[in-house]
Amino acid sequence: MIVLGIESTAHTFGVGVVSDEPPFILADIRKKYRPKTGGILPREVASFFSEVAGEAVREALEASGVTPRDIDGVAVALGPGMGPALRVGATVARALAFAWGKPLIPVNHAVAHLEIARFTAGLRDPVILYVAGGNTMVTTFLDGRYRVFGETLDIALGNLLDTFAREVGIAPPYFNEKGHIVDQCAEGGEFLEDFPYVVKGQDVSFSGLLTAALKAVKSGARLADVCLTLREIAYASVVEVTERCLAHTGKKEVTVTGGVASNEPLRAKMETMAKSHGAVFRPVAREYAVDNGVMIALTGLAALREGVTVDPLRSFVRQRWRVDEVDVPWYPWLPGF
Ligand code: FE2
Repeated sequence: MIVLGIESTAHTFGVGVVSDEPPFILADIRKKYRPKTGGILPREVASFFSEVAGEAVREALEASGVTPRDIDGVAVALGPGMGPALRVGATVARALAFAWGKPLIPVNHAVAHLEIARFTAGLRDPVILYVAGGNTMVTTFLDGRYRVFGETLDIALGNLLDTFAREVGIAPPYFNEKGHIVDQCAEGGEFLEDFPYVVKGQDVSFSGLLTAALKAVKSGARLADVCLTLREIAYASVVEVTERCLAHTGKKEVTVTGGVASNEPLRAKMETMAKSHGAVFRPVAREYAVDNGVMIALTGLAALREGVTVDPLRSFVRQRWRVDEVDVPWYPWLPGF
């Protein structure tokens, strides 16, 4: 079985092709939108996606060496994400499904981040910390769905790091080959007292921490000290919630996924925590931490095997589509498992 998947929820238009037989990943084409100045405008992203979509699909078919006839279904991320961006991917996917006479498979973008982590880390039933620019949650599978064990009450972890870096003038770019810019800036820093560490029940909150960090810089604190304090508190709070989920569920595997999953100090904390519970920790493969079409194709493939499809006429995009609203009948199956 072979599925082509389309990702277009944020800044990346991705097309992946995945098979249920080795080598599993047949193509991974990514077209990333880079604003010339400032942040991402949904309308501009959508027009960029429209320009590159045809080329991306063509390149994915070429790279995979398959023809439309070999493909069993077209998967698409219908949410959560930015409306105008989502609609481009949905339109392209519907058109391909119609033209090729193949089923259309609805995929939740967040569920896809979870599945690519299980797949690349080789973990069947882990507790998962999902941390990205727009998402921060601790989740694990229970009774047919991924359940949210804890999440952010305000901004996401990636948003916290990026906003701070931008406001104090050390980014963009936010990331280079040595990691996140805040982690690099923290080197040689010392921990500062009196920053808010907020874990309410199972949830975390970062807006107070962001305000405190920006205020500290303004009043002359050393940038390295602020960066270190910010990231120590932020990472420790998400690891604390992950640890509670692990202890509560008694599971024996842990992973981290999403754009922030590549941050080395966070991985180290997760590793230490998992070890103290006798659990295995393996993060998502670095190249699949960020948005990509492969994770959509992978999740679509698993879904199609269980008959999960959608009528193209009813395949609406959902900007706020939570992971705990999605049935996951294929769990824990993934290609190669
Ligand atoms: Fe994402």
